[in-house]
Amino acid sequence: MKISVIQGPNLNMLGIREQHIYGPLTLEQIHLGMEKYAKENDIEIEFFQSNLEGEIIDRIQEAFGSVDGIIINPAAFSHTSIGIKDALMAVNIPTVEVHISNIYQREEFRQKSITAGASMGVITGFGAFSYHLAMISVHQIILEQIEAKKNENK
Ligand code: DQA
Repeated sequence: MKISVIQGPNLNMLGIREQHIYGPLTLEQIHLGMEKYAKENDIEIEFFQSNLEGEIIDRIQEAFGSVDGIIINPAAFSHTSIGIKDALMAVNIPTVEVHISNIYQREEFRQKSITAGASMGVITGFGAFSYHLAMISVHQIILEQIEAKKNENK
């Protein structure tokens, strides 16, 4: 089982940027926690961060046929990017969208995620722990799909 973690713009600044909103952990520290969960559960995991919309779209397309699940925090692009949504719809890989902050408690322009409609579900507002919840969720979704396929073949 392989999961791709895709991180959008400014998430490379975690640990520095607006700590009262995003907390003290760096992206690297968050990824270490996800790696730990992955190891314990026999999951292969890869990480990608970009500040560029097109690079994120390329990465989603590259996931086609090579990963079983996607965890994505499109960050600011959540609120603007039809391109990222279309890419997620195109590859049709089980996806969980993550936000560190609770986007529904914030400015009006953050309260709508365009990309979220392409995900199985959205986890928002639990700080860095949102990523851990996303790992559990995407893992469960993939296990259920494997189980469903087994039953189809019976
Ligand atoms: C964010 C919320 C977005 O509105 C913001 O642009 C981000 C981070 C979050 O994880 O809370 O960069 O996606």
